[in-house]
Amino acid sequence: MVCLGNICRSPLAQGILEKKSKKINTNIHVDSAGTSGWHIGATPDLRSINVAKKYKIDISHQQARKFTTYDFKKFDKIYVMDMDNYKNLIRLCSNENECNKIELILKKIDPENNPSVPDPYYGGEDGFEKIYKLLEKACSKIINEIEVNE
Ligand code: 4NP
Repeated sequence: MVCLGNICRSPLAQGILEKKSKKINTNIHVDSAGTSGWHIGATPDLRSINVAKKYKIDISHQQARKFTTYDFKKFDKIYVMDMDNYKNLIRLCSNENECNKIELILKKIDPENNPSVPDPYYGGEDGFEKIYKLLEKACSKIINEIEVNE
């Protein structure tokens, strides 16, 4: 799960997918990172921690890190939150296999378009509730596909 700062959207996406994967007993490894290194080492934004807590998910232990090209080797899928993240990672991937791993996460629920998870950083708490709902739907789709393919 990749966003810009790795403190708002992607930590929430990580927490949601981890919880769903535990529920169906898969042993997929979920992680998140930012395309920037602005918040390396920081815990998630309190507004993300709080919206996660509201839905019984604890993301307070997560620590921000910057995406590295090794992530293309380590992970099978790389879900990005918006087109800026997408363009940033497309610049970093080094072959077709790596580039094909990158996908806008909201394509899972709106495959005909290129929808973004809006950056909630400069907005209010309602923005965090909104992104939770979007990510919840997208992660349900991801988990359903994993279940079908297992
Ligand atoms: P995120 O949100 O990419 O969802 O973690 C942001 C976090 C920090 C900043 C921008 C977006 N920032 O400008 O520091």
